[in-house]
Amino acid sequence: MNKPTKILVVFGTRPEAIKLFPVIAALKADPRFACVVCVSAQHRQMLDQVLEIAGIVPDHDLDLMRPDQTLDGLTAALLTGLGQVMDAEKPDRVMVQGDTATAMAGALAAYYRKVPVDHVEAGLRSGNILHPWPEEVNRKIIGSIASLHFAPTEVSEAALLAENVAADRVHVTGNTVIDALHWVTERIAAQPSLAGGLADLAARFAGKRIIGVTSHRRENFGGGMETIAEAIRRIADRPDVAVIFPVHLNPNVRAVMHRALGGLDNVALIEPLDYPHFARLLALADIMLTDSGGVQEEAPALGKPVLVMRETTERPEGVSAGTARLVGTDVTVIVTEMFTLLDDKAAYETMARAHNPFGDGHAASRIVELVANEVGHQA
Ligand code: UD1
Ligand code: UDP
Repeated sequence: MNKPTKILVVFGTRPEAIKLFPVIAALKADPRFACVVCVSAQHRQMLDQVLEIAGIVPDHDLDLMRPDQTLDGLTAALLTGLGQVMDAEKPDRVMVQGDTATAMAGALAAYYRKVPVDHVEAGLRSGNILHPWPEEVNRKIIGSIASLHFAPTEVSEAALLAENVAADRVHVTGNTVIDALHWVTERIAAQPSLAGGLADLAARFAGKRIIGVTSHRRENFGGGMETIAEAIRRIADRPDVAVIFPVHLNPNVRAVMHRALGGLDNVALIEPLDYPHFARLLALADIMLTDSGGVQEEAPALGKPVLVMRETTERPEGVSAGTARLVGTDVTVIVTEMFTLLDDKAAYETMARAHNPFGDGHAASRIVELVANEVGHQA
């Protein structure tokens, strides 16, 4: 057998950890690879929640998160720190996921060392560099560097081909978030106490329609966050509704949400949930209201209508299927669309169909096989 290929997997935030743990597990189980894990810890507590449940102990932890960090400060520290790890480890390949600052800096640091980059969740494009910001440009930078592009769907594959990426460099694998969702669902089925912490809220809100909310996009800081909070306040005015909102740790999100919504009877502002508890919230909720990327993929897979508080989306598959709807950050639009779903049974049923354009739960093993193929390992 050839010498194992040393692959450095680099990530730093909650969603990257969720979407990479299935790939890391597959790489670690495969003798053709030596998998080295480097976390930037661009997120700290929210990253650690995932590392713990997934049982990942990083080989390198740059511990970079700073309170209310700036994009340039973060990016500079990432580039230097990740470059040093690459110089020490001398990997054969570097793997990054998605479109965060860590993913972009990881790809760039690898490129500066002429190390090939594998990009998981490649080819997502909104077509607008300010929505989401700065992720759309991060994706384009990674897309121009990557050696292998793992597109979750045909839509993302087509976006890469339209940018003249060679067809043999792009592979449709499904999104690893579905692998993660299957894994966590099985874990909860085997051990329900893993997600038992929402029982009190479920009892408190029994008989009400539950709306699960998440919000964190940087482009919404300032005006957008305020209007999102106001829309939630108006929705929660209804006595038949309850909102469960695990609030992102970004201080720009927390300040607005706690000021506008703290103390309302029908709104539970809670701390970020670990992944089993978030899966439980998805199951409990009648409707999700979110600006998150990952939640746009998970909610349709579970048949939960999702209202997306964004102007554009790089995940049009849920919208095309009718399970997701873009509502932007305008108060009236958000409230009107939410009330339609709450009051019009037919409208609700049309959206509440389990639909999963994002994968079959086997994306991670496909990705590992494709990388093995690339470096000349036998199956
Ligand atoms: C980052 C990503 C975004 C991704 C999101 C997922 C970039 C530029 N942004 O945005 O693409 O969708 O993560 O959630 O890469 N904080 C904590 N503890 C944590 C996490 C965050 O206190 O565990 C606070 C810190 O004050 C930190 C701030 O949140 O400075 C912002 O974190 P950062 O990673 O820069 O931005 P996000 O908005 O979380
Ligand atoms: N998530 C979680 N706990 C929470 C909120 C979200 O585990 O309290 C998970 C969610 O299931 C999804 C991911 O975090 O897989 C989405 O992360 P986020 O919204 O922070 O980032 P994005 O997907 O927008 O980049």
